[in-house]
Amino acid sequence: MKKLYVISGMTGMTGNELARQIVKREDDVIGFDNFFASSIETIADVLDSENLIFFEGDVNDDIQMKALEEKVLKLREKYETVIYINCAAVVHTEHFYHVDRTFETNVVGMKKFLEQAVRVKADAYINCSTSEVYSAASWKDGGVKEDDFLLLATAEHSQRTSYATGKLLTEFFMKDAVDNGQIKGCSLRFANVYSKNELLAKHVIPHVITSLMRDGKVTLLENSKVNRRTFLHNIDSCAAVLAVADTEAALDGTVYNVATEQEVSMIELVELCGKAIGIEKPEIIFEGYRESDPERRVLSVQKLKERTGWEATITLEQGIKMCVDYRRQVEGK
Ligand SMILES: NC(=O)c1ccc[n+]([C@@H]2O[C@H](COP(=O)([O-])OP(=O)(O)OC[C@H]3O[C@@H](n4cnc5c(N)ncnc54)[C@H](O)[C@@H]3O)[C@@H](O)[C@H]2O)c1
Repeated sequence: MKKLYVISGMTGMTGNELARQIVKREDDVIGFDNFFASSIETIADVLDSENLIFFEGDVNDDIQMKALEEKVLKLREKYETVIYINCAAVVHTEHFYHVDRTFETNVVGMKKFLEQAVRVKADAYINCSTSEVYSAASWKDGGVKEDDFLLLATAEHSQRTSYATGKLLTEFFMKDAVDNGQIKGCSLRFANVYSKNELLAKHVIPHVITSLMRDGKVTLLENSKVNRRTFLHNIDSCAAVLAVADTEAALDGTVYNVATEQEVSMIELVELCGKAIGIEKPEIIFEGYRESDPERRVLSVQKLKERTGWEATITLEQGIKMCVDYRRQVEGK
Protein backbone atom coordinates (compact mmCIF):
# COMPACT_ATOMS: atom_id res chain seq x y z
CA MET A 1 0.00 0.00 0.00
CA LYS A 2 1.07 3.53 -0.72
CA LYS A 3 1.79 6.38 1.64
CA LEU A 4 -0.11 9.68 1.55
CA TYR A 5 1.73 12.90 2.39
CA VAL A 6 -0.16 16.09 3.19
CA ILE A 7 2.00 19.19 2.76
CA SER A 8 1.35 22.82 3.67
CA GLY A 9 3.35 25.46 1.79
CA MET A 10 3.86 23.07 -1.14
CA THR A 11 5.15 25.56 -3.70
CA GLY A 12 7.86 26.85 -1.34
CA MET A 13 11.47 25.73 -1.49
CA THR A 14 10.98 22.72 0.77
CA GLY A 15 7.44 21.79 -0.26
CA ASN A 16 8.09 21.73 -4.01
CA GLU A 17 11.12 19.45 -3.78
CA LEU A 18 9.30 17.18 -1.31
CA ALA A 19 6.47 16.90 -3.83
CA ARG A 20 8.98 15.91 -6.54
CA GLN A 21 10.67 13.28 -4.36
CA ILE A 22 7.33 11.81 -3.22
CA VAL A 23 5.99 11.58 -6.79
CA LYS A 24 9.26 9.87 -7.79
CA ARG A 25 8.65 7.28 -5.08
CA GLU A 26 5.15 6.76 -6.54
CA ASP A 27 3.52 7.66 -3.26
CA ASP A 28 0.70 10.21 -3.20
CA VAL A 29 0.75 13.82 -2.05
CA ILE A 30 -1.88 16.47 -1.38
CA GLY A 31 -0.58 19.97 -0.93
CA PHE A 32 -1.59 23.59 -0.83
CA ASP A 33 -0.02 27.04 -0.72
CA ASN A 34 -1.40 30.58 -0.59
CA PHE A 35 1.45 31.85 -2.86
CA PHE A 36 2.58 34.29 -0.18
CA ALA A 37 6.20 33.71 -1.15
CA SER A 38 6.14 31.37 -4.14
CA SER A 39 4.28 30.54 -7.33
CA ILE A 40 2.82 27.52 -9.09
CA GLU A 41 5.87 27.47 -11.41
CA THR A 42 7.92 25.59 -8.82
CA ILE A 43 5.77 22.46 -9.20
CA ALA A 44 5.00 22.82 -12.92
CA ASP A 45 6.97 19.64 -13.66
CA VAL A 46 4.84 17.45 -11.33
CA LEU A 47 1.48 19.24 -11.49
CA ASP A 48 0.07 16.76 -13.99
CA SER A 49 1.18 13.71 -12.02
CA GLU A 50 -1.64 11.41 -10.99
CA ASN A 51 0.14 11.07 -7.63
CA LEU A 52 -0.28 14.77 -6.83
CA ILE A 53 -3.20 16.99 -5.84
CA PHE A 54 -2.57 20.71 -5.37
CA PHE A 55 -4.96 23.50 -4.39
CA GLU A 56 -4.50 27.18 -3.63
CA GLY A 57 -5.17 27.45 0.09
CA ASP A 58 -4.23 29.13 3.33
CA VAL A 59 -3.32 27.21 6.47
CA ASN A 60 -5.15 29.92 8.44
CA ASP A 61 -8.39 29.55 6.45
CA ASP A 62 -10.62 27.30 8.56
CA ILE A 63 -13.07 26.54 5.73
CA GLN A 64 -10.32 25.43 3.35
CA MET A 65 -8.63 23.39 6.08
CA LYS A 66 -11.95 21.70 6.98
CA ALA A 67 -12.38 20.71 3.31
CA LEU A 68 -8.82 19.29 3.32
CA GLU A 69 -9.56 17.33 6.49
CA GLU A 70 -12.70 15.81 4.94
CA LYS A 71 -10.76 14.84 1.84
CA VAL A 72 -8.01 13.15 3.84
CA LEU A 73 -10.57 11.30 5.98
CA LYS A 74 -12.30 10.05 2.83
CA LEU A 75 -9.02 8.81 1.37
CA ARG A 76 -7.57 7.56 4.68
CA GLU A 77 -8.30 3.85 4.32
CA LYS A 78 -6.62 3.61 0.91
CA TYR A 79 -3.25 4.28 2.55
CA GLU A 80 -0.94 2.34 4.78
CA THR A 81 0.50 5.53 6.24
CA VAL A 82 -0.53 9.20 6.29
CA ILE A 83 2.16 11.80 7.01
CA TYR A 84 1.62 15.53 7.51
CA ILE A 85 4.54 17.86 6.74
CA ASN A 86 4.25 21.48 7.77
CA CYS A 87 6.24 23.73 5.44
CA ALA A 88 3.93 26.76 5.31
CA ALA A 89 5.67 29.62 7.01
CA VAL A 90 6.58 33.24 6.89
CA VAL A 91 10.28 32.74 6.28
CA HIS A 92 12.22 35.28 4.30
CA THR A 93 14.28 38.03 5.85
CA GLU A 94 12.02 40.80 4.64
CA HIS A 95 8.92 39.06 6.03
CA PHE A 96 9.80 37.63 9.38
CA TYR A 97 10.17 41.00 11.03
CA HIS A 98 6.34 41.14 10.82
CA VAL A 99 5.34 39.72 14.15
CA ASP A 100 1.56 39.33 13.59
CA ARG A 101 1.90 37.41 10.34
CA THR A 102 4.79 35.34 11.68
CA PHE A 103 2.76 34.37 14.73
CA GLU A 104 -0.45 33.70 12.80
CA THR A 105 1.14 31.39 10.21
CA ASN A 106 4.19 29.94 11.91
CA VAL A 107 2.66 29.32 15.33
CA VAL A 108 -1.16 29.25 15.09
CA GLY A 109 -1.13 27.72 11.58
CA MET A 110 1.35 25.02 12.64
CA LYS A 111 -0.77 24.17 15.69
CA LYS A 112 -4.04 23.95 13.75
CA PHE A 113 -2.40 21.77 11.09
CA LEU A 114 -1.04 19.51 13.87
CA GLU A 115 -4.50 19.27 15.45
CA GLN A 116 -5.91 18.26 12.06
CA ALA A 117 -3.22 15.56 11.72
CA VAL A 118 -4.22 14.21 15.14
CA ARG A 119 -7.96 14.24 14.25
CA VAL A 120 -7.45 12.32 10.99
CA LYS A 121 -5.23 9.87 12.90
CA ALA A 122 -2.21 10.60 10.75
CA ASP A 123 0.77 8.41 11.50
CA ALA A 124 3.25 11.26 11.73
CA TYR A 125 3.71 15.02 11.69
CA ILE A 126 6.99 16.58 10.58
CA ASN A 127 7.47 20.11 11.85
CA CYS A 128 9.90 22.37 9.98
CA SER A 129 11.77 24.53 12.48
CA THR A 130 14.94 26.57 12.19
CA SER A 131 18.55 26.84 13.33
CA GLU A 132 17.72 30.48 14.20
CA VAL A 133 16.61 29.12 17.60
CA TYR A 134 20.34 28.88 18.42
CA SER A 135 20.50 32.69 18.00
CA ALA A 136 24.07 34.01 18.10
CA ALA A 137 25.26 30.91 20.00
CA SER A 138 25.10 28.83 16.87
CA TRP A 139 28.50 27.17 16.67
CA LYS A 140 30.99 25.26 18.74
CA ASP A 141 33.69 22.71 17.94
CA GLY A 142 31.99 19.71 16.36
CA GLY A 143 28.81 21.73 15.80
CA VAL A 144 25.94 22.78 18.05
CA LYS A 145 23.88 19.83 19.22
CA GLU A 146 20.13 19.66 19.60
CA ASP A 147 20.34 19.26 23.38
CA ASP A 148 22.79 22.12 23.94
CA PHE A 149 21.27 24.92 25.98
CA LEU A 150 19.47 27.55 23.93
CA LEU A 151 20.84 30.94 24.86
CA LEU A 152 18.07 33.43 24.24
CA ALA A 153 20.30 35.99 25.94
CA THR A 154 22.22 36.10 22.64
CA ALA A 155 19.11 36.64 20.48
CA GLU A 156 18.73 39.80 18.42
CA HIS A 157 16.71 42.56 20.11
CA SER A 158 14.33 43.06 17.23
CA GLN A 159 11.10 41.72 15.79
CA ARG A 160 13.20 39.28 13.77
CA THR A 161 13.47 37.12 16.88
CA SER A 162 9.70 36.50 16.68
CA TYR A 163 10.55 34.04 13.90
CA ALA A 164 12.92 31.97 16.07
CA THR A 165 10.81 32.14 19.22
CA GLY A 166 7.68 31.21 17.25
CA LYS A 167 9.44 28.21 15.72
CA LEU A 168 10.77 27.21 19.16
CA LEU A 169 7.23 27.21 20.51
CA THR A 170 6.11 24.90 17.69
CA GLU A 171 8.82 22.43 18.72
CA PHE A 172 7.11 22.19 22.11
CA PHE A 173 3.65 21.69 20.53
CA MET A 174 5.26 18.84 18.60
CA LYS A 175 6.94 17.32 21.64
CA ASP A 176 3.80 17.64 23.73
CA ALA A 177 1.62 15.89 21.11
CA VAL A 178 4.10 12.98 20.93
CA ASP A 179 4.59 12.76 24.70
CA ASN A 180 0.80 12.69 25.15
CA GLY A 181 0.51 9.81 22.66
CA GLN A 182 -1.56 11.81 20.15
CA ILE A 183 0.74 11.30 17.16
CA LYS A 184 4.34 10.50 16.26
CA GLY A 185 6.59 13.19 14.83
CA CYS A 186 9.58 15.45 15.27
CA SER A 187 10.93 18.91 14.49
CA LEU A 188 13.73 19.66 12.04
CA ARG A 189 16.03 22.64 12.53
CA PHE A 190 17.18 23.58 9.03
CA ALA A 191 20.18 25.83 8.42
CA ASN A 192 20.60 27.89 5.24
CA VAL A 193 18.79 25.76 2.71
CA TYR A 194 19.07 26.91 -0.92
CA SER A 195 17.65 25.73 -4.21
CA LYS A 196 18.06 26.36 -7.89
CA ASN A 197 14.64 27.91 -8.36
CA GLU A 198 14.78 30.78 -5.88
CA LEU A 199 14.50 33.34 -8.60
CA LEU A 200 14.03 36.28 -6.26
CA ALA A 201 17.25 37.31 -4.61
CA LYS A 202 16.07 37.06 -1.02
CA HIS A 203 18.61 34.59 0.32
CA VAL A 204 22.35 35.00 -0.02
CA ILE A 205 23.08 32.45 -2.78
CA PRO A 206 20.47 33.79 -5.24
CA HIS A 207 21.52 37.32 -4.29
CA VAL A 208 25.17 36.62 -5.12
CA ILE A 209 24.36 34.78 -8.36
CA THR A 210 21.88 37.43 -9.55
CA SER A 211 24.29 40.27 -8.80
CA LEU A 212 27.34 38.62 -10.37
CA MET A 213 25.43 37.61 -13.49
CA ARG A 214 24.26 41.21 -13.88
CA ASP A 215 27.58 43.07 -13.66
CA GLY A 216 30.23 40.96 -11.93
CA LYS A 217 29.71 42.80 -8.61
CA VAL A 218 27.88 41.96 -5.40
CA THR A 219 27.03 44.03 -2.33
CA LEU A 220 27.29 42.24 1.00
CA LEU A 221 26.98 43.36 4.61
CA GLU A 222 30.20 44.30 6.43
CA ASN A 223 29.55 41.16 8.52
CA SER A 224 30.50 39.11 5.45
CA LYS A 225 34.15 40.05 5.86
CA VAL A 226 34.32 37.51 8.70
CA ASN A 227 31.13 35.42 8.51
CA ARG A 228 31.22 31.75 7.61
CA ARG A 229 28.20 29.56 6.82
CA THR A 230 27.18 26.09 5.72
CA PHE A 231 24.64 25.77 2.89
CA LEU A 232 22.37 22.78 2.31
CA HIS A 233 20.81 22.02 -1.06
CA ASN A 234 17.03 21.50 -0.89
CA ILE A 235 17.37 18.07 -2.55
CA ASP A 236 19.31 17.04 0.55
CA SER A 237 17.11 18.87 3.08
CA CYS A 238 14.03 17.17 1.62
CA ALA A 239 15.75 13.77 1.63
CA ALA A 240 16.29 14.38 5.35
CA VAL A 241 12.57 15.11 5.85
CA LEU A 242 11.64 11.84 4.14
CA ALA A 243 14.39 9.95 6.01
CA VAL A 244 12.95 10.90 9.41
CA ALA A 245 9.40 10.23 8.18
CA ASP A 246 10.54 6.74 7.10
CA THR A 247 12.19 5.98 10.45
CA GLU A 248 9.60 5.27 13.13
CA ALA A 249 12.17 5.38 15.92
CA ALA A 250 13.10 8.92 14.89
CA LEU A 251 9.54 10.18 15.37
CA ASP A 252 9.98 10.64 19.10
CA GLY A 253 8.91 14.27 19.49
CA THR A 254 12.49 15.53 19.61
CA VAL A 255 14.47 17.89 17.42
CA TYR A 256 16.96 17.12 14.63
CA ASN A 257 19.51 19.47 13.10
CA VAL A 258 19.52 19.36 9.28
CA ALA A 259 22.62 20.92 7.74
CA THR A 260 25.93 20.20 6.04
CA GLU A 261 29.35 20.24 7.56
CA GLN A 262 30.91 22.01 4.51
CA GLU A 263 31.61 25.48 5.91
CA VAL A 264 32.75 28.38 3.72
CA SER A 265 33.46 32.05 4.33
CA MET A 266 31.12 34.46 2.55
CA ILE A 267 34.07 35.59 0.46
CA GLU A 268 34.74 31.99 -0.62
CA LEU A 269 31.03 31.68 -1.45
CA VAL A 270 31.26 34.66 -3.82
CA GLU A 271 34.39 33.15 -5.41
CA LEU A 272 32.61 29.82 -5.92
CA CYS A 273 29.65 31.57 -7.56
CA GLY A 274 32.02 33.63 -9.71
CA LYS A 275 33.81 30.47 -10.84
CA ALA A 276 30.52 28.77 -11.79
CA ILE A 277 29.49 31.85 -13.81
CA GLY A 278 32.95 32.28 -15.37
CA ILE A 279 34.04 35.47 -13.59
CA GLU A 280 37.63 35.29 -12.44
CA LYS A 281 37.66 38.14 -9.91
CA PRO A 282 34.17 39.04 -8.68
CA GLU A 283 34.02 42.46 -7.01
CA ILE A 284 32.57 42.60 -3.48
CA ILE A 285 31.19 45.87 -2.09
CA PHE A 286 30.69 45.83 1.66
CA GLU A 287 27.80 47.98 2.88
CA GLY A 288 25.67 47.99 6.05
CA TYR A 289 26.04 45.98 9.23
CA ARG A 290 23.70 43.62 11.10
CA GLU A 291 24.07 43.48 14.87
CA SER A 292 23.78 40.02 16.47
CA ASP A 293 24.55 38.18 13.25
CA PRO A 294 26.43 35.03 14.26
CA GLU A 295 29.91 34.81 12.73
CA ARG A 296 29.49 31.09 12.25
CA ARG A 297 26.56 28.68 12.22
CA VAL A 298 27.75 25.11 12.50
CA LEU A 299 25.30 22.40 13.48
CA SER A 300 26.10 18.85 14.44
CA VAL A 301 24.09 16.42 12.30
CA GLN A 302 25.33 13.37 14.13
CA LYS A 303 21.88 12.59 15.58
CA LEU A 304 20.15 12.72 12.18
CA LYS A 305 22.85 10.58 10.57
CA GLU A 306 22.93 7.99 13.33
CA ARG A 307 19.17 7.60 13.56
CA THR A 308 18.28 7.66 9.87
CA GLY A 309 21.45 7.03 7.85
CA TRP A 310 20.92 10.35 6.02
CA GLU A 311 23.95 11.96 4.36
CA ALA A 312 24.16 15.15 2.29
CA THR A 313 24.90 14.24 -1.32
CA ILE A 314 25.36 17.59 -3.10
CA THR A 315 28.54 19.59 -2.54
CA LEU A 316 28.29 23.38 -2.52
CA GLU A 317 30.25 23.51 -5.80
CA GLN A 318 27.73 21.15 -7.45
CA GLY A 319 24.74 22.99 -5.95
CA ILE A 320 25.96 26.40 -7.13
CA LYS A 321 26.53 25.02 -10.62
CA MET A 322 22.94 23.69 -10.60
CA CYS A 323 21.68 27.17 -9.60
CA VAL A 324 23.69 28.92 -12.34
CA ASP A 325 22.73 26.38 -15.04
CA TYR A 326 19.05 26.69 -14.12
CA ARG A 327 19.21 30.50 -14.12
CA ARG A 328 20.77 30.47 -17.59
CA GLN A 329 18.12 28.05 -18.83
CA VAL A 330 15.28 30.25 -17.49
CA GLU A 331 16.82 33.43 -18.86
CA GLY A 332 17.73 31.75 -22.16
CA LYS A 333 21.41 32.76 -21.88
N1 LIG B 1 15.15 27.68 3.70
C1 LIG B 1 15.82 27.72 4.83
O1 LIG B 1 17.02 27.99 4.86
C2 LIG B 1 15.15 27.40 6.10
C3 LIG B 1 15.91 27.56 7.23
C4 LIG B 1 15.33 27.29 8.42
C5 LIG B 1 14.02 26.86 8.47
N2 LIG B 1 13.27 26.72 7.37
C6 LIG B 1 11.88 26.27 7.54
O2 LIG B 1 11.50 25.33 6.55
C7 LIG B 1 10.11 25.51 6.24
C8 LIG B 1 9.96 25.67 4.74
O3 LIG B 1 10.67 26.82 4.37
P1 LIG B 1 11.07 27.12 2.88
O4 LIG B 1 12.51 27.37 2.85
O5 LIG B 1 10.45 26.11 2.01
O6 LIG B 1 10.38 28.54 2.74
P2 LIG B 1 9.47 29.11 1.55
O7 LIG B 1 9.12 30.52 1.90
O8 LIG B 1 10.12 28.86 0.26
O9 LIG B 1 8.17 28.22 1.67
C9 LIG B 1 7.14 28.48 2.59
C10 LIG B 1 5.86 28.42 1.80
O10 LIG B 1 4.77 28.65 2.68
C11 LIG B 1 3.82 29.41 1.97
N3 LIG B 1 2.93 30.07 2.93
C12 LIG B 1 3.20 31.15 3.71
N4 LIG B 1 2.12 31.45 4.45
C13 LIG B 1 1.17 30.52 4.15
C14 LIG B 1 -0.15 30.30 4.59
N5 LIG B 1 -0.72 31.09 5.51
N6 LIG B 1 -0.84 29.25 4.07
C15 LIG B 1 -0.27 28.45 3.13
N7 LIG B 1 0.96 28.61 2.66
C16 LIG B 1 1.69 29.64 3.18
C17 LIG B 1 4.64 30.38 1.13
O11 LIG B 1 3.91 30.90 0.04
C18 LIG B 1 5.78 29.48 0.69
O12 LIG B 1 5.50 28.86 -0.54
C19 LIG B 1 9.64 26.73 7.02
O13 LIG B 1 8.98 26.28 8.18
C20 LIG B 1 10.91 27.42 7.41
O14 LIG B 1 10.77 28.12 8.60
C21 LIG B 1 13.82 26.98 6.17
